[in-house]
Amino acid sequence: MLTQRLILTGDERHDRPLIEQAGAIIRAGGLVAFPTETVYGLGADAYNPVALQRIFHAKGRPAWDPLIVHVVNHEQILDLTSRLPDLAIPLIQRFMPGSLTLILPKSERVSTIITAGRDTVGIRMPSHPVARALIRASGVPIAAPSANKFGRPSPTNADHVLQDLAGEIEAVLDAGETPHGVESTILDLTTKPPTLLRPGAVPLEAIEEAIGTVRLLTEMIPAGQSLPAPGTMARHYAPRVPLLLSAPTPEAFYGTVKDALAQYEWVGVLRPRGWSLPQSENLVVFEWGSWGEWDTLAQKLFYALRWLEGQSVHAIVAPLPPAEGLARAVRDRLVRASHRE
Ligand code: TXA
Ligand code: MG
Repeated sequence: MLTQRLILTGDERHDRPLIEQAGAIIRAGGLVAFPTETVYGLGADAYNPVALQRIFHAKGRPAWDPLIVHVVNHEQILDLTSRLPDLAIPLIQRFMPGSLTLILPKSERVSTIITAGRDTVGIRMPSHPVARALIRASGVPIAAPSANKFGRPSPTNADHVLQDLAGEIEAVLDAGETPHGVESTILDLTTKPPTLLRPGAVPLEAIEEAIGTVRLLTEMIPAGQSLPAPGTMARHYAPRVPLLLSAPTPEAFYGTVKDALAQYEWVGVLRPRGWSLPQSENLVVFEWGSWGEWDTLAQKLFYALRWLEGQSVHAIVAPLPPAEGLARAVRDRLVRASHRE
């Protein structure tokens, strides 16, 4: 299959026919990758079981890992859920559209392919105008995981999507870089108190401000053990080479890079602005941004991992951000990406 790259310009008259074309592909049971404000998604008609199976096949994703469903209005949320827990209302009002995925009791309309046999469904209403236009043009909710091969860093541009999925999907809507660069925050509303399943682009602190205390999943689950929730396995988002993490000080970072150079021939680094590095010709440096500017660092994270890997380094070094605000999501992705198995 030849994957079409549908390049959007932001000009409504130019983009409209391309989005209509993509919507028609979804309605016909095809797969379209599309930008959201977090990362690119790999979309299919949420009501078409054959198309849903194709998502798992294209991604190489195990059938036990459920998909989230992308909606554009409240009516679609009601179609997909059997009951809205009380806390859903303030969260929907405040964060939808936005980068929050809610786990809710599913309605009968939701296929068990989406939920991997669970009785809950993940729902998200993206804010990216292209994602919204595509869902409208399709006329159906769109089931979509991130548009990468299973376990790889999520794609933040159309080139990344094509690196992983060219030849396996009908089209990608190319609207350039995604603004947040880390995935949505996932909150399970079927537990009391609600459980944070994945820190993401909406900070935990903002959610707690809206609904009070949220339970955290703190432990890392070793591969092979049963998971409290799918997708919480330790190794994920991983580049193809070892990722070494340092404490978040310039001194610790310098030391970890030095150790890495003693162990590996070519070393890639995600370097915070102004942090010094050992003298070496065997370093490949990605200028990450100012430490503490988490929106910039989050936006560049997956791009940096893919770029460094493309430079054929043997290991990558990064400092580990603190567990607060948006930094919590960056920290989570780095910790998972650093697990060897
Ligand atoms: O920002 C995002 O959320 C992106 C964009 C494309 O919307 N999507 C995304 O999807 O990151 P995915 O499939 O890569 O990650 C969604 C996670 C998976 O780890 C999955 O296990 C979990 O959500 N999930 C989905 N449905 C669930 C459910 N019913 N219960 C618990 N976890 C669920
Ligand atoms: Mg993913």
